[in-house]
Order: sequence, then structure tokens, then C-alpha cells
Amino acid sequence: MTRTHLGHIFHLTGAPPLSEAGAALVSIPQGALVVGDDGKVAFCGERAEIPLKYRSAPVSDHRPGFLLPGFVDSHVHFPQTFAGDSYNGGQLLEWLTGCMYPSEARFADPAFAKRAAVEFCDRRIASGTTAAMVFGSAFPHAQDALFAETQRRGLRIVSGRGIQTVGPKAAEPLMTSESDALRLVREEIDKWHAADTGDVKTARLHVAVVPRFAIAVTAEMLKSLGELYDSVRDLGVYFHTHLNENNRPDTGEVAETKKIFQVDTYLDTYDGRFLPGSKVGGPSMLGRRSVMAHAVHCQDSELERMSETGTSIAHCPVSQQFLGSGTMPWLRTVASGVNIAAGTDFGGGDEWPIPQVLAAAFKVHISEPGDAGVSMHPAEMLFLGTLGGARALDMEDRFGNFDVGKEADFVVIDPNRTPALKAVITQGVRSDDPAMARDQTLFGLLMSTRETSIAGTYVQGRRLAPAQPATG
Ligand code: GUN
Ligand code: ZN
Repeated sequence: MTRTHLGHIFHLTGAPPLSEAGAALVSIPQGALVVGDDGKVAFCGERAEIPLKYRSAPVSDHRPGFLLPGFVDSHVHFPQTFAGDSYNGGQLLEWLTGCMYPSEARFADPAFAKRAAVEFCDRRIASGTTAAMVFGSAFPHAQDALFAETQRRGLRIVSGRGIQTVGPKAAEPLMTSESDALRLVREEIDKWHAADTGDVKTARLHVAVVPRFAIAVTAEMLKSLGELYDSVRDLGVYFHTHLNENNRPDTGEVAETKKIFQVDTYLDTYDGRFLPGSKVGGPSMLGRRSVMAHAVHCQDSELERMSETGTSIAHCPVSQQFLGSGTMPWLRTVASGVNIAAGTDFGGGDEWPIPQVLAAAFKVHISEPGDAGVSMHPAEMLFLGTLGGARALDMEDRFGNFDVGKEADFVVIDPNRTPALKAVITQGVRSDDPAMARDQTLFGLLMSTRETSIAGTYVQGRRLAPAQPATG
């Protein structure tokens, strides 16, 4: 049934690049979002201007709440659901070996994996994350649990089992032969890609090809994965992996990758140029449905290549702080034109809500040295967490803002549920300049929103049931 939602609306209208987000920012303090029978935005505007035909629709009055497009998490790890804040005294590769591989191996137990799928969806709904690119478990039964629970709860997902065929001893429980890995990817695509509606254009479930990172597979496997990906690209299948995250000299992930493959750039390994000297050995896996997590330490040529192929970056500053991975150079990365979206990278990151990732982005980029330091515009922050995420998932035509006809994915943020947010919203000093006052309110809202602040999470106009409180 058509329904009107009242609240202070913020969104980015149209399809701007990140650098033009400020001009696309819409703020409607007395806002109305009318969602039609079809779950799509029928009207977004001033409450006083609701078209006559919608005036008799039932009303959900969320005031003094805010209505924002649903958050998109462009990189999050399902098999690390219970592995946040894990410690073993090291950075990425030591942390993977000491903490993540053992944690992910627990998903061999189907009952454990099922509990994790419930918790994963609970955390997403509680955080207002309506869509996500999810790095999956190595275990097919765990992926079955994830897709089934996601469908049951009404969330959107793109995910694929984490592929690993070589690695340290600790990773062995997650590893398969190359032929098994290729078979399992095909089976996952057959079973879950658009399984909910049978049509990728309307589906909420999508599958990705997800090698853990280049050094988790061989050159032959990169060739085979490229060929497999080529054969399913037209079905709307995605590609997702990690890129240029940890550049500790000699022993870090970037150094290891260059040592093993003898390539000029890390990106070459995913771009078909994985043979020594970056010679072409197979098809590229880059494109508009490819998302690279991190991309902290990219050469200009890598940024340009991602930009020209429509590949997106999942920017994960909370994780980069947690694992000491460094800071993605903001101005240089934006200048390349590559699309950038926000990712929690949970459990490399230790925050589920995307607004906390946006807050971290603001803090790390204002702290970059010298002229590289920049005070991000709040509209750019909103872009990373909403429209940029929809673009990274190649579903910008479906959601990401409140333009009429988009599927109505939104979150209700209620300042009254979080005293510190309420103080920011109701007591903060505002400029006499209306545009700056608007920006100040959006900035405070994004910086101070926590899980407790989310009063409702909606996909296609339907409110998703939150987690049941634990009893006993
Ligand atoms: N690179 C390869 N695997 C991982 C992982 O699980 N987390 C992060 N942050 N980086 C990775
Ligand atoms: Zn990750």
C-alpha cells in the first residue's frame, strides 16, 4: 500500500560524480517520502507539496527523525562476523594467520555458520545497511545460510565464497584444489545468482567471484578465474577482492604480491597481466561490477586503469586504522575519477555502521600531511555511504537516492535514541548561511550516528524486522 514517511530528508539527487556531490545535496527539513505500492519512490519533497493523489495515504511520522537512503557497505566479511577486535600483535598478514583463518575455519560447522548468518543480518539491519558487497565464507553450506537468511530478512546482497588455493598452514581448512574452487564458484552462481526473482534486474541476491587476494591463488588460477568470469559477466555476476592494502617493506601484502608474480603493479594480477613483467596471461576481471577493497597504496596507473574500466574502490578507513594499513591518498584518488564507496571491512574494521566509516574517512583525510590534508564535504561523505555504493554495485539505477522511480531503500535516524547525537543536532551552533547550516547538520548527523540511532531500516519500502532482543 502507498505510504508517506515524514522526516528531515537528506539525499543526493541525480547521478553526480563524487566531486560534484555538494551541488547534488538535497535537504528537506519538512520532508515527505511517498512510497508506492510497487516499493518505489513516488514522491520526495516538501510535506506541504505532496500531490493530491497521495494525500490520503497512511502516514508514518518519523519526526524529529531523519530519512536517508539506505547505507551501502561495499566491503564486509561474513565469516568474520564473530571476529571483530581480534588481536595477535601484528598487521594484515600476521593477523590473517593468527586470527582470521582460524575464525573462518569455524564456519565448517553448519550450525555455527547459521548462527553467524543470523547475527550478520541482525547487525546489518541494526546499522541501516540495506545493500552490501559481502566477502563470503569458503564453505558452501555457510554461503547457503547467508543467502537464505538474507532473503528471509529482506536485505540486498552481492556475495561469493572466498577462494583460496594456496597459503599458509593456518589457511588450509579454507583451501580447495583449483578445480574444486572453479566448480564451487559455478555452483554458487547457478544456485544463488538472482535466485529470489529469477531476473538480475529485479533481484536482491547476486553472486560475485571472490578470490581472497592475488597471493591466495596461482597464476594458472587467475587465468581460469578470468575465463570463468568472462563466461558469466553478461549474467551480471560481480568480481570482488582486495588490492594494495598493506605495504610494509619486504614482508607486507603488496611486497609479497610483487615478489610472487613479478608484476609491475598489484592491479595487473586482476587485469589479466599476471605473468612476470606484467605480460598478459588471461582475461581481465576489471569492470563496472568489480570492486577492489582498500586500494591504499596505488600507483597512478592503477587508479587510471580502475577509472577507465569502471572498477570501484571500497574505501575502508576504519579497517586501515585498525590494521595499520595507512591512508588512501584522498585528493589523488578522487582526481583519477575512479568511483569510491565506503566499506566497513568488518572484522578488519571494528565498526558495523557505515556512518562510523564516514566519520573515520573525515578524520584520516583531514590528517593527511601538508596540502594533501582535506576537510571532506559532508555531501561527499554521504556519497561514499549511499550513491557511490549503489554505483559500485552497478545498481545506481535501482537505489542510492530518492529520485522518483528508484526502489525505496531508506533508513530512519532518530536523534532521540542517542543522547550524544541529540545534543549535536539540537544544541550545535549553526551558521547564519543556510547552506553552511545545512552542511553542519548533515555533518553532525553522519559523525554521531551509532547503531542505537537507527530507528528503522527499509528495503523497497518494507520495514525490515530488527533482531529480537536476547531473552534469559
Ligand atoms: N586480505 C586478504 N584477506 C583479507 C581479510 O580477510 N581482511 C582484510 N582486511 N584484508 C585481507
Ligand atoms: Zn577485507
